[in-house]
Amino acid sequence: MANQLREQYGEIVDGLLRRYPQKKSAILPLMHLAQRVHGYMSQEAMNEVAEILDIDSTHVLSLAGFYTLYYEEPVGKYVLEVCTDLACALRGADEFLEMVLQKLQVGVDEMTEDGLFTVKPVMCLAACDKAPMLQCNLRYYENLNEEKFDALIAQLRAEAEADAADREPTVIERTLSYAAGDPPATK
Ligand code: FES
Repeated sequence: MANQLREQYGEIVDGLLRRYPQKKSAILPLMHLAQRVHGYMSQEAMNEVAEILDIDSTHVLSLAGFYTLYYEEPVGKYVLEVCTDLACALRGADEFLEMVLQKLQVGVDEMTEDGLFTVKPVMCLAACDKAPMLQCNLRYYENLNEEKFDALIAQLRAEAEADAADREPTVIERTLSYAAGDPPATK
Protein backbone atom coordinates (compact mmCIF):
# COMPACT_ATOMS: atom_id res chain seq x y z
CA MET A 1 0.00 0.00 0.00
CA ALA A 2 1.22 3.53 -0.81
CA ASN A 3 2.82 5.48 2.00
CA GLN A 4 1.01 8.85 1.86
CA LEU A 5 3.33 10.37 4.42
CA ARG A 6 6.31 9.72 2.22
CA GLU A 7 4.47 10.75 -0.94
CA GLN A 8 3.33 14.12 0.41
CA TYR A 9 6.27 15.04 2.63
CA GLY A 10 9.16 13.03 1.25
CA GLU A 11 11.69 15.84 1.58
CA ILE A 12 10.68 16.69 5.11
CA VAL A 13 10.70 13.02 6.10
CA ASP A 14 14.22 12.65 4.74
CA GLY A 15 15.26 15.88 6.49
CA LEU A 16 13.97 14.61 9.82
CA LEU A 17 15.69 11.26 9.41
CA ARG A 18 18.99 13.02 8.75
CA ARG A 19 18.71 14.93 12.03
CA TYR A 20 19.16 11.88 14.22
CA PRO A 21 21.92 9.26 14.49
CA GLN A 22 19.21 6.61 14.81
CA LYS A 23 16.21 7.08 12.57
CA LYS A 24 13.87 5.76 15.25
CA SER A 25 14.53 9.03 17.12
CA ALA A 26 12.54 10.93 14.47
CA ILE A 27 9.36 9.20 15.54
CA LEU A 28 7.64 12.12 17.30
CA PRO A 29 7.86 14.71 14.46
CA LEU A 30 6.96 11.99 11.99
CA MET A 31 3.84 11.28 14.00
CA HIS A 32 2.90 14.98 13.76
CA LEU A 33 3.27 14.79 10.00
CA ALA A 34 1.18 11.64 9.92
CA GLN A 35 -1.55 13.52 11.78
CA ARG A 36 -1.52 16.19 9.10
CA VAL A 37 -1.97 13.64 6.37
CA HIS A 38 -4.58 11.51 8.10
CA GLY A 39 -6.20 14.02 10.49
CA TYR A 40 -5.38 11.86 13.51
CA MET A 41 -3.30 8.83 14.45
CA SER A 42 -5.36 6.30 12.59
CA GLN A 43 -4.07 2.76 12.15
CA GLU A 44 -2.99 3.71 8.66
CA ALA A 45 -1.05 6.70 9.97
CA MET A 46 0.70 4.53 12.54
CA ASN A 47 1.53 1.92 9.94
CA GLU A 48 3.11 4.53 7.67
CA VAL A 49 5.33 5.91 10.45
CA ALA A 50 6.33 2.39 11.47
CA GLU A 51 7.18 1.49 7.90
CA ILE A 52 9.45 4.51 7.47
CA LEU A 53 11.29 3.73 10.70
CA ASP A 54 11.37 -0.06 10.29
CA ILE A 55 9.67 -0.59 13.62
CA ASP A 56 6.51 -2.32 14.77
CA SER A 57 3.36 -0.16 14.68
CA THR A 58 2.63 -1.08 18.31
CA HIS A 59 5.55 1.18 19.26
CA VAL A 60 3.84 4.09 17.48
CA LEU A 61 0.58 3.17 19.17
CA SER A 62 2.16 3.28 22.62
CA LEU A 63 3.44 6.84 22.02
CA ALA A 64 0.13 7.96 20.53
CA GLY A 65 -1.57 6.79 23.72
CA PHE A 66 0.99 8.43 26.00
CA TYR A 67 1.28 11.95 24.56
CA THR A 68 -1.75 14.20 24.56
CA LEU A 69 -0.75 15.97 21.33
CA TYR A 70 -1.40 12.82 19.33
CA TYR A 71 -5.04 12.14 18.70
CA GLU A 72 -6.53 8.69 18.43
CA GLU A 73 -9.82 10.13 17.11
CA PRO A 74 -10.46 12.91 14.55
CA VAL A 75 -10.17 16.40 16.08
CA GLY A 76 -11.08 19.95 15.12
CA LYS A 77 -8.75 22.45 13.49
CA TYR A 78 -8.15 23.96 16.93
CA VAL A 79 -7.71 21.68 19.93
CA LEU A 80 -8.42 23.48 23.18
CA GLU A 81 -6.59 21.69 25.96
CA VAL A 82 -7.80 22.97 29.29
CA CYS A 83 -5.63 22.15 32.29
CA THR A 84 -7.76 20.74 35.08
CA ASP A 85 -4.93 19.45 37.24
CA LEU A 86 -4.86 20.25 40.96
CA ALA A 87 -3.29 23.71 40.99
CA CYS A 88 -5.54 24.93 38.19
CA ALA A 89 -8.58 23.28 39.78
CA LEU A 90 -7.94 25.38 42.88
CA ARG A 91 -8.19 28.46 40.65
CA GLY A 92 -11.46 27.50 39.00
CA ALA A 93 -10.36 25.29 36.11
CA ASP A 94 -13.28 22.88 36.45
CA GLU A 95 -15.81 25.68 36.26
CA PHE A 96 -13.91 27.20 33.35
CA LEU A 97 -13.97 23.88 31.47
CA GLU A 98 -17.72 23.61 32.03
CA MET A 99 -18.17 27.10 30.58
CA VAL A 100 -16.02 26.21 27.55
CA LEU A 101 -18.04 23.07 26.85
CA GLN A 102 -21.29 24.92 27.25
CA LYS A 103 -20.30 27.79 24.97
CA LEU A 104 -19.09 25.45 22.23
CA GLN A 105 -21.97 23.03 22.81
CA VAL A 106 -19.79 19.95 22.87
CA GLY A 107 -18.73 17.32 25.35
CA VAL A 108 -15.18 16.43 26.32
CA ASP A 109 -13.19 15.11 23.32
CA GLU A 110 -16.02 15.98 20.94
CA MET A 111 -15.66 18.15 17.85
CA THR A 112 -17.91 21.12 17.16
CA GLU A 113 -20.28 20.72 14.23
CA ASP A 114 -18.25 23.13 12.10
CA GLY A 115 -15.14 20.98 12.62
CA LEU A 116 -13.24 23.87 14.20
CA PHE A 117 -12.87 22.96 17.87
CA THR A 118 -12.24 19.97 20.08
CA VAL A 119 -12.00 20.40 23.84
CA LYS A 120 -9.80 18.21 25.99
CA PRO A 121 -9.04 18.40 29.71
CA VAL A 122 -5.32 17.76 30.30
CA MET A 123 -2.88 17.39 33.15
CA CYS A 124 -0.42 20.08 34.29
CA LEU A 125 0.94 22.29 31.51
CA ALA A 126 3.39 24.05 33.81
CA ALA A 127 1.47 27.33 33.99
CA CYS A 128 -0.05 26.61 37.38
CA ASP A 129 -0.04 30.21 38.62
CA LYS A 130 -1.89 31.47 35.55
CA ALA A 131 -5.05 29.40 35.69
CA PRO A 132 -7.55 29.11 34.22
CA MET A 133 -5.42 28.41 31.18
CA LEU A 134 -5.52 26.38 28.01
CA GLN A 135 -3.20 25.37 25.25
CA CYS A 136 -4.42 25.72 21.69
CA ASN A 137 -2.25 24.32 18.91
CA LEU A 138 0.90 24.66 21.02
CA ARG A 139 0.19 28.21 22.19
CA TYR A 140 -0.70 29.07 25.78
CA TYR A 141 -3.61 31.32 26.77
CA GLU A 142 -3.46 32.22 30.45
CA ASN A 143 -5.42 33.94 33.20
CA LEU A 144 -8.57 33.30 31.21
CA ASN A 145 -12.11 34.33 31.98
CA GLU A 146 -15.33 34.28 30.02
CA GLU A 147 -14.61 37.53 28.23
CA LYS A 148 -11.11 36.48 27.16
CA PHE A 149 -12.36 33.08 26.06
CA ASP A 150 -15.09 34.66 23.92
CA ALA A 151 -12.48 36.89 22.31
CA LEU A 152 -10.20 33.92 21.61
CA ILE A 153 -12.96 31.91 19.98
CA ALA A 154 -14.02 34.90 17.87
CA GLN A 155 -10.40 35.39 16.78
CA LEU A 156 -9.95 31.74 15.84
CA ARG A 157 -13.26 31.64 13.97
CA ALA A 158 -12.29 34.75 12.04
CA GLU A 159 -8.89 33.24 11.21
CA ALA A 160 -10.44 30.03 10.03
CA GLU A 161 -12.90 31.93 7.87
CA ALA A 162 -10.37 34.26 6.34
CA ASP A 163 -7.57 31.70 6.35
CA ALA A 164 -5.38 34.77 6.75
CA ALA A 165 -1.64 34.47 6.21
CA ASP A 166 -0.92 35.51 9.78
CA ARG A 167 -3.48 33.27 11.40
CA GLU A 168 -2.59 31.06 14.35
CA PRO A 169 -0.34 28.25 13.06
CA THR A 170 -1.68 24.77 13.57
CA VAL A 171 0.29 22.15 15.51
CA ILE A 172 1.35 20.62 12.24
CA GLU A 173 2.48 23.89 10.73
CA ARG A 174 4.67 24.48 13.75
CA THR A 175 6.08 20.99 13.33
CA LEU A 176 6.81 21.60 9.66
CA SER A 177 8.52 24.83 10.61
CA TYR A 178 10.64 22.96 13.14
CA ALA A 179 11.49 20.31 10.57
CA ALA A 180 12.65 23.08 8.25
CA GLY A 181 15.09 24.24 10.91
CA ASP A 182 13.21 27.26 12.30
CA PRO A 183 13.52 28.02 16.03
CA PRO A 184 10.54 27.11 18.26
CA ALA A 185 7.73 29.68 18.27
CA THR A 186 7.43 32.00 21.24
CA LYS A 187 4.50 34.08 22.34
S1 FES B 1 -1.88 22.43 37.31
FE1 FES B 1 -2.55 23.46 35.53
S2 FES B 1 -0.76 24.21 34.62
FE2 FES B 1 -0.09 23.16 36.37
